[in-house]
Amino acid sequence: MGSRFPPPGSGRAVLAPMAGITDSPFRLVCRRRGAAMVWSEMLAAEALVRDHGKTLRMAAFREEERPVVLQLFGTRPGAFADAIARLEPLAADCYDLNFGCPAPKIVKHGGGSALLREPRAVEAIARAAVAAAGRPVLAKIRSGWEVGAENAAEIARLLEQCGVAAVTVHGRAASQKFSGTADWGVIARVKRALSIPVIGNGDVRSGADARRMLAETGCDLVMAGRAALGNPWLFTEVAAAAERAAPGVPVPWPLRLDAIREHFDLMIADKGETRAVREMRKHLGWYIRGIDGAAHARRDIMSAATRRQVFELLERLAG
Ligand SMILES: Cc1cc2nc3c(=O)[nH]c(=O)nc-3n(C[C@H](O)[C@H](O)[C@H](O)COP(=O)(O)O)c2cc1C
Repeated sequence: MGSRFPPPGSGRAVLAPMAGITDSPFRLVCRRRGAAMVWSEMLAAEALVRDHGKTLRMAAFREEERPVVLQLFGTRPGAFADAIARLEPLAADCYDLNFGCPAPKIVKHGGGSALLREPRAVEAIARAAVAAAGRPVLAKIRSGWEVGAENAAEIARLLEQCGVAAVTVHGRAASQKFSGTADWGVIARVKRALSIPVIGNGDVRSGADARRMLAETGCDLVMAGRAALGNPWLFTEVAAAAERAAPGVPVPWPLRLDAIREHFDLMIADKGETRAVREMRKHLGWYIRGIDGAAHARRDIMSAATRRQVFELLERLAG
């Protein structure tokens, strides 16, 4: 995609970065169902600098996922630059800087959303990343550190001055973590303050929500996370809703089962069957949500040890 952002003609809804979830198999499953772009799990810049094998493996992606964004977190500008230098041979489409994570284990070291209180540090990180990257650098922020201390527009303007190509705004303060309702007003305020593209994020659960966020905030793209869990068709629904105000229709079980098979087999290809069975458990819980008999079947599915056992249980659930 070169230096162009957003990539042309690829839809309006993108898959949010989610640690422990948005690995290559899930990203591909979402991309095949209409996600315009997909984000990796957050990768520790310092681990990449140390050549941490596991983190480098987390950065790997399939060509079919493009456009794919690799997200970094950390605190030291030099670590972001070195990590990007190590990632450059992969030729991901963009990098994203995490200034939004509220998890205590990240914030206590001064990373993620803790940086929203340190505009000078944000600036130093963004400048170092932009200088090191041969492709667009994006950034993801929240409304601010605390409710009542909104500084998203100020931080976003600073990021734009540093050469960042687009900013994602999650409409919650760091102190809110995931509670309450996202304030889309802050997305509109950031959009008015910038001339680069803005990606709106927070509580998009349907095609209708996406349409409303685009209209109410003027954002260029919407980013969805939790609503895509077990429901990669969210992106198909958003594409349909962009054309007309169509209500979402439930995805029939045979289609769900096909997606589960596809997801599972990608996971096995990457991680082997034992790990794939373990890591698919959470996804299976999400995929079967709302299906008749799901509550009852969940426990057995969670203790199945092989792909074959899982599918015997799933096929019984369908019948
Ligand atoms: C399990 C989980 C893991 C997440 N991991 C990350 C992450 O690695 N990097 C990041 O920027 N945001 C992360 N987020 C936040 C999401 O990207 C997104 O901003 C948030 O969930 C709000 O969007 P939603 O309402 O569409 O879920 C995570 C969220 C969840 C639920």
